[in-house]
Amino acid sequence: MSKLPSTAPRWAKSFMHDLIHQTDYIVVGSGIAGLRAAIDLAEAGRVTIFTKAQITESNSMYAQGGIAAAIGQDDDVEKHYADTIAAGAGLCDAAAVRVLVEEGPLEIERLLQWGADFEREGNALSLSREGGHAVARIVHGNGGLTGKVVIDALLARVRANPNVHIAPFTFFSDLITDGDRVIGIQFEHNGKFASCYAKATLLATGGGSQVYSQSTNPETATGDGLAAAYRAGAELRDMEFVQFHPTVLSLHGAPRFLLTEALRGEGARIVNDRGERFVNELLTRDEVSRAVFRQLTSRPDAKVFLDTTHVPADLLRKKFRHVYTTSLNYGLDITRDRIPITPAAHYFMGGVQTDLSGRTSLRGLYAAGEVASTGVHGANRLASNSLLEALVFGGRAGAAMKEESEINPPLQSSEPSSGIFATVNQNIRDITWRYAGIVRKARELETGLELLDRMKEESNLLTVARMIHECALAREESRGAHYREDFPAPAVTIFHSYIQKDRALKLL
Ligand code: SIN
Repeated sequence: MSKLPSTAPRWAKSFMHDLIHQTDYIVVGSGIAGLRAAIDLAEAGRVTIFTKAQITESNSMYAQGGIAAAIGQDDDVEKHYADTIAAGAGLCDAAAVRVLVEEGPLEIERLLQWGADFEREGNALSLSREGGHAVARIVHGNGGLTGKVVIDALLARVRANPNVHIAPFTFFSDLITDGDRVIGIQFEHNGKFASCYAKATLLATGGGSQVYSQSTNPETATGDGLAAAYRAGAELRDMEFVQFHPTVLSLHGAPRFLLTEALRGEGARIVNDRGERFVNELLTRDEVSRAVFRQLTSRPDAKVFLDTTHVPADLLRKKFRHVYTTSLNYGLDITRDRIPITPAAHYFMGGVQTDLSGRTSLRGLYAAGEVASTGVHGANRLASNSLLEALVFGGRAGAAMKEESEINPPLQSSEPSSGIFATVNQNIRDITWRYAGIVRKARELETGLELLDRMKEESNLLTVARMIHECALAREESRGAHYREDFPAPAVTIFHSYIQKDRALKLL
């Protein structure tokens, strides 16, 4: 935990001392969904953004790829709608997808007005194509650091707004409920526990891919919002659908750095240690991930590489500057060297179930971004639809939260108690990767659950791991990113899984 600097605003200094706080709107998480919502909410009242590291640390910040939106000459919302529905393998919510694709172009326009510096070709935005998209529709920037371009634009607005208070290095430990209504949160800052009450609370905490030992996500992606929503009694949907990214740097001592899918769009090949191609690189992420996984597990010393050595070096250095310079830091020159890869957990399609305005099953609680299950991704997310979802549904959640007029501090504020910490237990991460990973089967999921049940110390990661195992075990079919070796075909009937504390898991 770092101390707040002496130049921190007065509000922030007092924050270190007070145990009970009140604001109009709580936003937990400082990624794209949280910041986008905060900008709208600040028009209606005081907003407090709680974030467990510095404000610039979030999953969104690391997002490569870009933002998909139907803005090209040869594109329209119907094409984007059709591609998204096809990727979702039968599980998308049609109304949510329609909102996503129709409001997407407006969000891009807004970002441009707010100063987002996307790459251009002449006067027009430069659009790339990625797997599953019928046309080029991916807006991108900063040599592959699109998430940072968006965060910079949103953060500039947030910082300029006196109605928004940022509380960095505050660890959100639990939701505070009053019956079925969420009235605030508990958090920890500098070793002290405190509470904050508000009219409405937004979970924008991102996903929980750190529950896997192989993960593209930053260390902060421990599923805190998912676990807290579960403990508070909210309904979560489709937690078994975890997207694995097939091309992630696999080097001893290096983080699992994502080698963007856009490289394959430019012709990058995937080869085994004999230099042979074994998969069509432009298949969907789940298919490519399974093929890479099978190669890697075919013998103990097997290796798989992403080969970009035939792609023009200038293009690699310019368009993929982030990948190029990061790989160089690990002694690999992508213009000359093949890059050793592994698949890794990348994105949660499921999450806290919401309506089209981010409302969850608990009054006063909203969710947006990866923590939410809006229904736009179904069983498999289309590349570059996640930042779009965070913008569109972050904005919608902010607009809906403004309508909440009730402020519900308890008559007698209770002393904040210590909550559950996001301890990152390597055992949990190994179990989830081994037993609820890319290729699943009943016996292994049951073993995983038994091992998790033996763990004594509750943690957010453990709650998330259990939900994934239980939902994956219940889904006796293969669909989208969920692959069951013992049920390799999709079921005839389409259903969602719903998981809620103290209730039986539902398949509906
Ligand atoms: C990528 O660039 O391959 C990842 C982007 C995404 O997950 O949409």
